[in-house]
Amino acid sequence: MKRDALIDSLRTPNSLGSRPKYISAAKQKFEAIFGASPRFVVSAPGRVNLIGEHTDYNAGYVFPVAIDKYIHIAMRERADRRAVLHALDVNESFELNLDALRPVPPNAPTWSYYLIGVASLLQESGNKIAGIDAVIMGDVPIGAGLSSSAALSVSAALAFLAGSIPQSSPDAAVSEARKKELAALCQGVEHEFVGVNCGIMDQTISLLGRADHGLFLDCRSLAYEHVPLNLGAHCIAICNTKVKRELAASEYNKRRTECERGVDLLSRWLPGISSLRDITLSDFKKHEGKLPALTQKRCGYVVAENTRVLDAVSTLKARNQQTSEKVDDPLIAFGRLMNASHKGLRDDYEVSCRELDLLTDIAHSVDGVIGTRMTGAGFGGCTVSIVHRDALETFRTRVTSEYHKQTGIEPEIYLCNVSNGAQVFNY
Ligand code: GLA
Repeated sequence: MKRDALIDSLRTPNSLGSRPKYISAAKQKFEAIFGASPRFVVSAPGRVNLIGEHTDYNAGYVFPVAIDKYIHIAMRERADRRAVLHALDVNESFELNLDALRPVPPNAPTWSYYLIGVASLLQESGNKIAGIDAVIMGDVPIGAGLSSSAALSVSAALAFLAGSIPQSSPDAAVSEARKKELAALCQGVEHEFVGVNCGIMDQTISLLGRADHGLFLDCRSLAYEHVPLNLGAHCIAICNTKVKRELAASEYNKRRTECERGVDLLSRWLPGISSLRDITLSDFKKHEGKLPALTQKRCGYVVAENTRVLDAVSTLKARNQQTSEKVDDPLIAFGRLMNASHKGLRDDYEVSCRELDLLTDIAHSVDGVIGTRMTGAGFGGCTVSIVHRDALETFRTRVTSEYHKQTGIEPEIYLCNVSNGAQVFNY
């Protein structure tokens, strides 16, 4: 297959310029169901994290990108206090009474928890929201570690608020400070309504992503920088194991508790620390022997991963400033950091699984793959790899055939464009 045709075949149907296509589909579905035009279509992207895994809830650093896979909500306001919701991808409908959201009704489908949570927290924090008619659809794979739930809660928050956003330029009207507030509110939905004590990364990138840029985010101060991703002849390839593990949420919460325990113990010798982010690699080495073995492994991974994010961002910046083609492309160093991140997640943090390790092993066997790692919470989901365009054909064939041979599962491969964050489109 010719290279460009191959790239196109790997891109999902809604890639490159297809956000408008999906948005118009959402609009049409809305019209078919409600017999009128929507007033807004809101669309929020999923994400892939390039490096900085399990560091966000340790007040550390992350470097995700927003991808061109979205959750779209077409909506209009209602005069009453009901939210009439149709989730087209799962073919389910549900109605909320905005004055009786808690406790969550026992028959509420799982996806509606995000809308119930968002509507509750918005109102409880003093926002006036109106009832809405809404259709929800999207193509962020569910439960694949690409943040479909953050995309859903972010799009829900903007949908409930859309009516109060000035008509002229709805997107610009959501200030950066407001986006940060909404990210925290959507994180609260996971904590209170879903039971996952997640960090702030997914919701922040879904709101603050920028096309062709990675988001270097300090999860303590929420200071951030959009770093240009000039990947040149390389692409970001995401491979979906298609496995999800039931224990993911409980193991995730356990890791968070283990890290907190580590901080508690380490603060005896390092007074003044409040999170693993405050500990340098050399300080950690001095004291690690005093920790129980498991705590040592978990905390050691996080301390090293924070350093890797800082190094990864520096290598990218160095590459962006490079004026001539050099033999030592800093991207190679970036790839090595991704590989080291995977090793730490597999051996020390122990959130990988056989299928994720297999995908990274296969990727390593392809010349032209400069870095590969699991991405997201782990225990299934996706890997992310940086692949030279000339190696894509081999990459695709080998990943598909080898993974299938060893697991019996057809993996999915997505070549993603790096997208802008959530937007509100006015009709
Ligand atoms: C999930 C959580 C994030 C983050 C990642 C792991 O995606 O929602 O907050 O902790 O796992 O890096």
